[in-house]
Amino acid sequence: MSSFQADSQQLILALSKGRIFEDTMPLLEAAGITVTENPETSRKLILPTNDPNVRVLIVRATDVPTYVQHGAADFGVAGKDVLLEHGGEGLYQPIDLRIAECRMSVAVRNGFDYETAVRQGARLRVATKFVETARAHFAKKGVHVDLIKLYGSMELAPLVGLSDAIVDVVSTGGTLRANDLKEVEAIMDISSRLIVNQAALKMKRERLQPIIEAFERASKK
Ligand code: ADP
Ligand code: PRP
Ligand code: MG
Repeated sequence: MSSFQADSQQLILALSKGRIFEDTMPLLEAAGITVTENPETSRKLILPTNDPNVRVLIVRATDVPTYVQHGAADFGVAGKDVLLEHGGEGLYQPIDLRIAECRMSVAVRNGFDYETAVRQGARLRVATKFVETARAHFAKKGVHVDLIKLYGSMELAPLVGLSDAIVDVVSTGGTLRANDLKEVEAIMDISSRLIVNQAALKMKRERLQPIIEAFERASKK
């Protein structure tokens, strides 16, 4: 396997499997880059492309900003939800790619009177993967919350009495409906951003700039 020694010609892109990988493929194609292995069937975590100088790292969605921040990847694609939790340190965020669109919302069980609980100043137990976003949202509303950090399947928490509410991303609302939950507050719109390591942007600008521009043109279509 070739090494990862710093090389101004080499570009490393960090992506997560699933919707971000799939929605980024047409943008890469617009920049003339084709990923030549499928992460859904390959066990490889470093995927080749048609350009010997461009490789793709497959990492968890929440880890994409970390790889880019530390320069293990030069650039990546991450949701605004993930970037807000990470904090964005060391990252340049040149474009909203308008992919993986959804919204961050508060949801409760059907039958739970959220508005009254809030009006009466009740202390709410809120389960979420997005503790920083949830903390900021409820602080702004002046609602006292006990945050319970989860890593997935948030919808389960109110059903089994772990929490009164959840903060999670919602798209069609199908997952909430399937679990007898209702959306009671939209916090913000979410989409995925191109993120670039700040040092790489300076050192590899000649290689990165045309890709950033191709992504920008393709994401506007
Ligand atoms: P994870 O394994 O972390 O859940 P996903 O691929 O599901 O990774 O999510 C990646 C990003 O896609 C999230 O950070 C969010 O911005 C967005 N996203 C999550 N769920 C949805 C959805 N149902 N519809 C559209 N976008 C979504
Ligand atoms: C996401 C999110 C919600 C669901 C919302 O889950 O965590 O559960 O999508 O989408 P909907 O409103 O269209 O139902 P995802 O599909 O990413 O599954 P996972 O993160 O649990 O693997
Ligand atoms: Mg998901």
